[in-house]
Amino acid sequence: MSNLERINDAPTIDALDKLRVELLGRKSAISEGFAALKNAADKAQAAAELNRKKEELSNAIANRKAALESVELEAKTAKEAIDVTLFDFYDRGGSLHPINRAMEEIVEYFTGMNFEVKNGPLIDDEFHNFEALNLPKHHPAREMQDTFYMNDGMVLRTHTSNVQIHTMLAEKPPFRMIAPGAVFRRDYDLTHTPMFHQVEGLAVDEKGAISFANLKHILEDFLNSFFGDFPTRFRPSFFPFTEPSAEVDVGCIFCGGKGCRMCKNTGWLEVLGCGMVDPNVFKAVGYENVGGYAFGMGVERLATLKYRVGDLRSLYEGDLDLLEQFR
Ligand code: DAH
Repeated sequence: MSNLERINDAPTIDALDKLRVELLGRKSAISEGFAALKNAADKAQAAAELNRKKEELSNAIANRKAALESVELEAKTAKEAIDVTLFDFYDRGGSLHPINRAMEEIVEYFTGMNFEVKNGPLIDDEFHNFEALNLPKHHPAREMQDTFYMNDGMVLRTHTSNVQIHTMLAEKPPFRMIAPGAVFRRDYDLTHTPMFHQVEGLAVDEKGAISFANLKHILEDFLNSFFGDFPTRFRPSFFPFTEPSAEVDVGCIFCGGKGCRMCKNTGWLEVLGCGMVDPNVFKAVGYENVGGYAFGMGVERLATLKYRVGDLRSLYEGDLDLLEQFR
């Protein structure tokens, strides 16, 4: 087999490299030929002949190498090929997270009723989160809210009610506002996560202009628009920032009121708190001769009921199979 044939037959790049050393390396016939030139009779002609041979072999090696490399590359790309048809990522599209979806629906209802959207700080002082809301230090009602306290006397707001105070200190009545946003409590189980969302509502006008009937009407109308045609009921309750206070239930949307596990056999689901603003709250912000109502609802609570999600925590796990059911 000629040297050229051996080159063209080299099966791998490694084998070709060994051949290159053999044919062109320091100990090859060609190198020895160059070394012996000084004794040759016709130096120029011998040198030209050696150079021609060397070039011929070098070219053949380079060509073979290129051929072997392209075969290797093809094999590699074939092996690592990605089947882009395997997942239909682009068919799945996006969807609003159920919490955002419920939030948007709530906000849309109330803005349609002329409530203005207000935002407040997530990290707030105790005056705005507690004291001005008629929750003085050491008041037992503070224990209803497992607060995250910070070192500098600030808290992670435990409810969006703090925005009531910020708004009243900044504006003059009459106004209607809602405050959607995240709130924080030290709590974690089937129905509680340390961060969740609320929508707070507040309407203030001159004394006598706003009645409990106005509050009852707007909340009933909201609940019917959110859940559909279910009965509602107002139960006397207590909140430090409202007097009188009520909790609002909707007839159980799971069993239609007959009693089931979801409504703990009462036939009713508790969905929000409300009341007429306590005079102490108005006093704390320097308001006189005014009246109004306030309400607060948990968005996760409303969303898990409406979309029938058993474990609230599953909404925060980024599980696509779950989330895409809400498209
Ligand atoms: N802040 C209450 C809570 O987090 C919810 C609430 C109840 C807000 C009654 C109100 C209200 O404005 O009137 O549990």
